[in-house]
Amino acid sequence: MGGITFLMFLVTAVTGVLLMFYYRPTAEYAFHDVQYLEFDIPFGMLLRNMHRWAAHGMVISVMLHMFRVFLTGSYKKPREFNWGVGVILLLVTFFLSFTGYLLPWDQLAFWAVTVGTNMARATPVLGHEGPFAPQNITQSNDVRFALLAGTIVGPSTLLRFYILHCVAVPLLASVLMALHFWRVRKDGGISGPL
Ligand code: HEM
Repeated sequence: MGGITFLMFLVTAVTGVLLMFYYRPTAEYAFHDVQYLEFDIPFGMLLRNMHRWAAHGMVISVMLHMFRVFLTGSYKKPREFNWGVGVILLLVTFFLSFTGYLLPWDQLAFWAVTVGTNMARATPVLGHEGPFAPQNITQSNDVRFALLAGTIVGPSTLLRFYILHCVAVPLLASVLMALHFWRVRKDGGISGPL
């Protein structure tokens, strides 16, 4: 399942780079670029759907992979460190999926990210409505503001999510995966049935 997760990541990386040739991350163009890609560019619909389905596949297979590792007790010594790396990879995978969801810039994207980022208001310490929030935290300087680049979903959010989705998060995921695979070998390879 880990291998399938990695394969899905590779498919999204290759198709994602190809999608970048047709997509501009501005409020003016984003939606139309996606429509143009889907209905006018040869094989555009195939390209977009390969990216979308591989992304869904990655989210499903990473959860199944974690479940398999749990069932075989492979989080125990000597693999505790790699389990920890895995937990970060799980969150990184979800964040890749979440940031990509805004990019089509349609109603679904806009409201899904509005609802999703509203939850960040309640983050302990870092969200302005969360528990243990310091006195000086407001809706203009909390973690939700950092995510949105503003107080509502807008053009700056689109640009921020685009850079996170296409550059920062894939780079972070690649470094963590290299560490993950190195640790699999160091810890004695894949564990077999008990
Ligand atoms: C992007 C996400 C991930 C990728 C690409 C990935 C990939 C892999 C691969 C290729 C292996 C080799 C064995 C196998 O296929 O099962 C592996 C092993 C392992 N993974 Fe992941 N993984 C990811 C996320 C996770 C998560 C979420 C966890 C748990 C929280 C995790 C924990 C582990 C552990 C403990 C091993 C060693 C298991 C053993 O030796 O049997 N990984 N991973």
